[in-house]
Amino acid sequence: MSRLLVKNGEIITALDRYFSDIYIEDGVIKAIGNALDYKADRVIDARGHYVFPGAVDAHTHLELPFMGEVSTDDFESGTAAGIAGGTTSVIDFVVPAKQQSLIEALNNWKEKSKKAVSDYGYHMAITWYGDQVKKEMAQCVREEGVTSFKAFMAYKGAIMVDDGELMSILKTAKSLGALVSAHCENGEVVALLQDRLASEGKLEPKYHEKSRPSYVEGEATNRFTMLAKAVDVPVYVVHVTCREAVEAISRARAMGLSVYGETCPQYLLLDDSVYEKPDFLGAAYVMSPPIRPRGHADALWGALKAGQLQTVATDHCPFHLKGQKELGRGDFRKIPNGAAGIENRVGLIYTYGVTENRINLNQFVDILCTRPAKLFGMYPRKGAIMVGSDADIVIWDPNTEGVISAKTHHQRNDTSIFEGFKTKGAPTWVVVNGRVQYDQGKLDVQRGAGRFIKRNTPEM
Ligand code: URP
Ligand code: ZN
Ligand code: ZN
Repeated sequence: MSRLLVKNGEIITALDRYFSDIYIEDGVIKAIGNALDYKADRVIDARGHYVFPGAVDAHTHLELPFMGEVSTDDFESGTAAGIAGGTTSVIDFVVPAKQQSLIEALNNWKEKSKKAVSDYGYHMAITWYGDQVKKEMAQCVREEGVTSFKAFMAYKGAIMVDDGELMSILKTAKSLGALVSAHCENGEVVALLQDRLASEGKLEPKYHEKSRPSYVEGEATNRFTMLAKAVDVPVYVVHVTCREAVEAISRARAMGLSVYGETCPQYLLLDDSVYEKPDFLGAAYVMSPPIRPRGHADALWGALKAGQLQTVATDHCPFHLKGQKELGRGDFRKIPNGAAGIENRVGLIYTYGVTENRINLNQFVDILCTRPAKLFGMYPRKGAIMVGSDADIVIWDPNTEGVISAKTHHQRNDTSIFEGFKTKGAPTWVVVNGRVQYDQGKLDVQRGAGRFIKRNTPEM
């Protein structure tokens, strides 16, 4: 039996803050109370620390084959980097090729994720539609615990679905009680603008944003939410980057629709000047949707504070600048899209959200831990500090300071899009399934210790 006692910390939940001890046995929270005196193998004195649920990153792409490359973090390195930053579970996207069986793709992901060091679940991307897909969607939800789907409204000629396919996906998900998320950009317009820019010889990384401006995302977000209205099914918009998309989501919510939205630290903290960096460094920021011009981030922060956006995930999908992003040196359309962030999300949102008074401490826990767990059917096993919850716990020093750098991060990536960003607050200890896996600056993870989380249908 393994026993851990965390004493004297200030517990922060999505609703409350209070001082209490936590006793953990065999990976599960057994007691919460004052002056607990259980015998334990280890006692952590959390005085001066916040204690909150391990953060859930509901949007990762580990070891994803994409645009001719494979994202560099696998389930071992990616989940380990997450732990170093306070993230103790991830939901990764299974992305079948067009015409591929969902179950075959799922089995590939099961193989890849055997080496995960923290717990994980999957969303299933639906990249085509037919009778087989319909049957396999049911199998995902009813047998496999994969209770959410994603459709791509962009990436024409690759994994994009059209409106007819999207409607079918929404209808099938409704019959299963599952949640559908979408990558909202109008793929047809992106293709048109890309061709136009290319014909004008505009092929440097900075034209990536010009090929998918914010109205392209706003239009697709509005369309997605209105299709969801027609079908009458809850939906979740991933990686929201701009004012137009926030407005579409807010409008839909004001109509009483169950529409939820996620944004990511890069959209909250960067602006499109990053694409002007010399020596092809702008390629590190090539992701879709792109980093927006100044001003959009204010709309995102406002929407998080007001509850119009509910979560911050990462869209963690790293590619090295050398050897991978470089493939698009002469043509931004060939730069593999994506960047790393799993290690930095909690620290960045604490620093620039909580300490700069954009959100409060309870909202911070809600947005990063509790809401994603609820929306994706893992609560209260994850995202909560409750008796019976998995003992995934972050013990956070609110006063320590740091600077993000690719030289020191655990992510497998030769660049950091947050290079030089100052942070305030960091985990001192991270407990994952009852074991201290990040201990005062040192990772102590076990390859393969992560377990698959069979998820329930969402709690709205
Ligand atoms: O650029 C991105 N976001 N890459 C990952 C795939 C996706 O669209 O989420
Ligand atoms: Zn996407
Ligand atoms: Zn993504």
